[in-house]
Amino acid sequence: MGLDSTIQVVSSVTKDVDSISLPHDLLQSLDQHTPVVVRGTVKARQVPKSTQSSKDASLATGKTTIITGVEIKLEHITPLNSFPEDLIVTPNTIFPPEQRHLQIKYEKSIRDALKFRSKVARFIRDHLADKHDFEEFETPLLFKSTPEGAREFLVPTRTPGYTYALPQSPQQYKQILMASGIPRYMQIARCFRDEDLRADRQPEFTQVDLEMAFASDEDVMSTVEDTIKALWAKMLPSAVVPAEFPRMTYEEAMSKYGSDKPDVRYSSEIRRAEYMLPVDLISKIGPLRDPIVEVMKLPISEDPATTRKFISAFMDSPEAQPFIDNPSGQPGIFIIDSRKPLQGLQPFGFEAAEQLEQTLDLQDGDLLILQARPNTPFAGGSTPLGNLRLALHRLAQKKILLPPPDSRSFAFIWITHFPLFTPTTVDPTEPGQSGSSGLKSTHHPFTSPATPADVDLLLSSPLQAKAAHYDLVLNGVELGGGSRRIHNADVQEIIFRSVLGMNDSRVDDFEHLLRVLRSGCPPHAGMALGFDRLVAVMLGRESVRDVIAFPKSGRGEDRLVGSPSKVTKDQAGVYGLGVVGAEGEGR
Ligand code: AMO
Repeated sequence: MGLDSTIQVVSSVTKDVDSISLPHDLLQSLDQHTPVVVRGTVKARQVPKSTQSSKDASLATGKTTIITGVEIKLEHITPLNSFPEDLIVTPNTIFPPEQRHLQIKYEKSIRDALKFRSKVARFIRDHLADKHDFEEFETPLLFKSTPEGAREFLVPTRTPGYTYALPQSPQQYKQILMASGIPRYMQIARCFRDEDLRADRQPEFTQVDLEMAFASDEDVMSTVEDTIKALWAKMLPSAVVPAEFPRMTYEEAMSKYGSDKPDVRYSSEIRRAEYMLPVDLISKIGPLRDPIVEVMKLPISEDPATTRKFISAFMDSPEAQPFIDNPSGQPGIFIIDSRKPLQGLQPFGFEAAEQLEQTLDLQDGDLLILQARPNTPFAGGSTPLGNLRLALHRLAQKKILLPPPDSRSFAFIWITHFPLFTPTTVDPTEPGQSGSSGLKSTHHPFTSPATPADVDLLLSSPLQAKAAHYDLVLNGVELGGGSRRIHNADVQEIIFRSVLGMNDSRVDDFEHLLRVLRSGCPPHAGMALGFDRLVAVMLGRESVRDVIAFPKSGRGEDRLVGSPSKVTKDQAGVYGLGVVGAEGEGR
C-alpha cells in the first residue's frame, strides 16, 4: 500500500484482561511513523458525516485521522523497525538535502511529482511503440571520449592511461543503429554533462531520445508533435495546447524576442528603431559605431509614477548590473508621461517621438527601453535586450503589476533555420568539437546543412549556412532539439577537418562514425526531449530538481550519499592514477 492510501486501525481497551488488551497497549506505546504489520478484522467503515465524527474516529485509535472505506479492528500488531524519537515531523518541517529520503516520504508534492514522472515515461514509451513503431534500445553508458560539445565525465579503468567517458547523449550510438538497419529507435536515456548547473540543468539527466531512418526533419517534427499532444491530452486534459505548433525561424525569434527560446506568452516584442532615431541620439546610445538600435515597450502601469518606481528599483538592484555593464551601452529608459513635453520622449525630438508613439501605440505609464547592439548577424542563444525583457516581465509579475501567464496555457513553438556554425574563441584546453577554425557547430557536428545550397556554403561562407535543425520550445524553455543528420562520410569529414579545423587526432576520435556512415548508412533524422524539463514544465515547477528523486545540488553533489567522494591513494593506485591530495596522502 502506498503512503497516500491509509487505513484506519481501531483498537480499544477491553475489560477482558491479558491477551486482548496487549495489542492496544503496544499500539499506544509505538512512536509515530513506526512501520508495523497489523492483523485484525477488516470491516466496512461508515464515513463520518461531520468533522466531529472524524475527530471521534481519530480519538478511537489515538494514532491516525485518515478516513477510508474500510477499517481494521486490531487483533495483533508487530513493529518492524523503530523511528528516531528526536525526529519531529510536522507539515511545516523542511528537510535538508541530506535527508532527501524524509523529504520524499513526508512531502506529498514531491511524491506526486515523481509518480507523475513515472506515468509520463510509461505513456511516451507506449505511444512511440504502439502508434509510431519505435523499438526501445539501451546504448552503453561506458562510452569513449569524443569532442562533441560539453565537458565529459571520465571513468578510469584498470588499464593505466585508459578511460571510458560517460555519454553526453546517445547521439553517436543512435546514428550507428540507423546504419545497423534499425528503422526507429527510442530510449529514455541517461546523459552526463560536466557543465555549470542552473535550475534547468543537472550533470546527469534524462532524455526522451529518438531516431528515424529514411526520415526527414518533417517526419521527426510531426512524430514528436503528435506524441506531445497525445501526452498532454492524457495527463493534462484541461490544458490549452495549440492545434498546430507554430514555427519561427531563429532569425525571427532573435529579432522579436532576443532569444532562441522565446517565451511568446509575454507581449513586448522587440523592434528595430534606428531608422526612426536622429543620428546624434544614436551616437549617444553607446560606444558602437553604426549600431543596430532596438526598442521594446512594457505596459507596466497606467500611472507613470508607478512605472518610474518599478524601473528605478530594478536598476538599483544587483540583477541590473549585467545590463548596465553591457559593452554595447546601457539600456536607455523612458517612461511615457502625458504631463511632460513630448510625453517624456523629448530627447528623441518631435518627429521621432511621434513615430515611436504611433508605431508602438504608447500610452501613459508605458516603459520604453532602447538598446544598441553590434551590426552583425545574430549568434548564440539570446541578446541582452531579450534577457532584460524576461527579467522585467518576471519582476513585474512578482510585483503584481503584470498578470502571470495562465497556468493552463502551454505556448509551444518550433524554432528552425538555425545557423549551422557559431563563431567561437579557439581554446585548446576547452572541450568541444571546435578545432582551429574559430567556428563551432551551433548544436553538434553531425547536423546536416539545411539544403544543397547550404552544403555549397560550407567552404566559402560557413557562417551563412543554415542547419536542418529544429528546437521545440515551451513557455520559454528549450524542451528539446534535433536535426536531420549528415549520412555521407565525405561531407562529415569535410565538416570535421575543413570547417571546424579539427586536427588528425580529433578526427580519429570519430573514425568509428565515419566508418559506419561509409557502410551504406541511410538518411536519418532524430531528436531528444529533455525529460526532466518536460515533466517540470508540465507540473509548473521552477526547477528540474523538483521532479528528480535524487537531484544533484548546485555544486554537483548528492548530499544524501555524499558524492562525489575523495579518491583514496589505494583506489588511485588500482587505476594507475596519480592524484594530488588523495585521501591518505595529506594535502
Ligand atoms: P541537446 O544537447 O539539445 O541535444 O539536448 C536535448 C535536450 O536535453 C535537455 N538537456 C538537459 N536537461 C537537463 N540538464 C542538462 N544538463 C541538459 N542538457 C540538455 C534539454 C535539451 O533540449 N543528441 C542531441 C539530440 C539530437 O540531436 O537528437 C542532444 O543531446 O531539454
